[in-house]
Amino acid sequence: MNILFIGDVVSSMGRDMVKEYLPKLKEKYRPHVTIINGENAAGGKGITEKIYRGFLEAGAQAVTLGNHTWDNREIFEFIDDAKYLVRPANFPKNNPGKGIVYLKMNNDEIAVISLQGRTFLPAIDCPFQKAEELVQEAKERTSIIFVDFHAEATSEKQAMGWFLDGKVSAVIGTHTHVQTADHRILANGTAYMSDVGMTGPYDGILGMDRDIVLKRFLTGLPARFEAPKTGRAQLSAVCIEIDKKTGKAKKITPIQINEDHPFYS
Ligand SMILES: [Fe+2]
Ligand SMILES: [Fe+2]
Repeated sequence: MNILFIGDVVSSMGRDMVKEYLPKLKEKYRPHVTIINGENAAGGKGITEKIYRGFLEAGAQAVTLGNHTWDNREIFEFIDDAKYLVRPANFPKNNPGKGIVYLKMNNDEIAVISLQGRTFLPAIDCPFQKAEELVQEAKERTSIIFVDFHAEATSEKQAMGWFLDGKVSAVIGTHTHVQTADHRILANGTAYMSDVGMTGPYDGILGMDRDIVLKRFLTGLPARFEAPKTGRAQLSAVCIEIDKKTGKAKKITPIQINEDHPFYS
C-alpha cells in the first residue's frame, strides 16, 4: 500500500504543479492513495470549494488543512458537505468539519487524521490527547493510519512521531514549508518526517512574494503577504510504502521537484 502526500500547496502556482506532476508521480510511485495539504491553496490562505474539487479531480482522495483552515470564508459554505476534507481534529469542539476521514480503496480502509501543534501556534485542544482518542477509534476499523501533523516546532513534531510510533503508519509534518531531510522509519514501524515542504513558488519566502516579506523584516512595518503568480515553481511530497496487514511502514521516500531537482520518470 503506497501513500503519496503532497505538502502545502500555495496558490495558483502550486495548483498548476499538482496538475502537471501528479499524473507523472502516480506513474512513478504507483500510490493507492494521494493526499494533498491544501491549507494555502487559495492565494496562500485557505481553500475554496472549486479548488478542493479540483484536487479530487486531479487525482487526490483526501485534502488536509491547518492553521489557515478558516482564512477563506467560503469554507463555511462547503465544509459540511466536503466528505474528503480534513481539518485539524483538535480545533475547539463543535467547529465545523472533521479531523478524521476514512478512505475505502478496494478492500482496504485508510484513516487520514489531521492534527495541529500548539507551540508558536494558537492555543487549541491537546493534539496528543486527541491523537490517542482518534487512533483508538481508527484502530477498530483499520491498521493503516496516516497523520498530517501541522506544527511549527520540530520538537513537537518529533514528540508526536514518537508518541504515535507503532500505533500509526505515518506521522508527516506540514506547516513550515521547507522539506526536512530527517525522513525515517521509527523503531516501531511508523514513517516519520518533520516537514514534507511546500508546493508553489520556488523563489519566494515560504511561497510568498519575497520583496514583501523582506520589507517586513527590514522595516518592521505591517505588510500584506501575497503569493507570486509567475516565476519558477516547486513541488514537495513524500511517498510511504506500508505493509497493509500490519499497518507498519516499510519505506519512506522524499520527493522534491524544482529546477535544481528535475523530475525523472
Ligand atoms: Fe502551510
Ligand atoms: Fe500552516
